[in-house]
Amino acid sequence: MASIGLIASSLAHEIGTPLGVIRGRAEYLAMQVEGSAVKNNVEIILSQIDRVSGLIRSLLNLAKGDKTEESEAISVNTGLLTVLELLGHEFRKNDIEILNLFDYEKPTTVYGQAEKLQQVLLNIIMNSIHAIVKARESGRTQGHFIRFSRQDFGTQYAISIEDSGSGISKENIDNLFRPFFTTKPTGKGTGLGLATSQWIVESWSGSIEIESKEGVGTTVHIYIPKSS
Ligand SMILES: Nc1ncnc2c1ncn2[C@@H]1O[C@H](COP(=O)(O)OP(=O)(O)OP(=O)(O)O)[C@@H](O)[C@H]1O
Ligand SMILES: [Mg+2]
Repeated sequence: MASIGLIASSLAHEIGTPLGVIRGRAEYLAMQVEGSAVKNNVEIILSQIDRVSGLIRSLLNLAKGDKTEESEAISVNTGLLTVLELLGHEFRKNDIEILNLFDYEKPTTVYGQAEKLQQVLLNIIMNSIHAIVKARESGRTQGHFIRFSRQDFGTQYAISIEDSGSGISKENIDNLFRPFFTTKPTGKGTGLGLATSQWIVESWSGSIEIESKEGVGTTVHIYIPKSS
């Protein structure tokens, strides 16, 4: 994975520089054609440049995530609580019940980076929120939830995040971890959330598994070795 990070970051720099020049020229052009019909076309060019810039930023973040930072003993309990607090507003806004079956009395110490763990949890929970919004749009309006649970497998923990969202079709289930795979409308998703999460968890010698039933919901299991 190190080489992917390297390619991603050098490519991002190589593309970023000329893109900045193109954007500058397009902005200049936009000012020149103020009030004419050409203006609309130049604005489309500008917004498409911004889309590519957004993708490049995501790639750079991904590449950053690929660098090995110092690992330390971190608490999954704390990571989850932090992210849940951060997303409280989203849960209320979307009328999602949070069922947290974590036993906070028991420590959940793993070996990794606290920020990365939060990033993984955030990516996965955001996907659940989006899937629930999608299920509602398709008419399944009631009783939506996200359930968090944890199992102790001796050498590793399994953290499971279950949602009542749209679920995933059989055609898509094998593609979820592919970088840039997304079913979200253009501009809404980059398709890097799960790829990034998998890279992070694998850098801790863990893994992610996803089970899903279309029209019912999805469960994501994150396996992380315990810190010894
Ligand atoms: N909990 C879920 N329920 C239903 N579909 C899901 C769920 N999690 C992921 N998916 C599917 O997997 C695809 C890829 O997810 P991923 O997080 O990698 O990218 P994204 O959410 O589309 O975009 P990004 O996370 O980069 O904003 C999603 O577009 C969606 O189709
Ligand atoms: Mg996502």
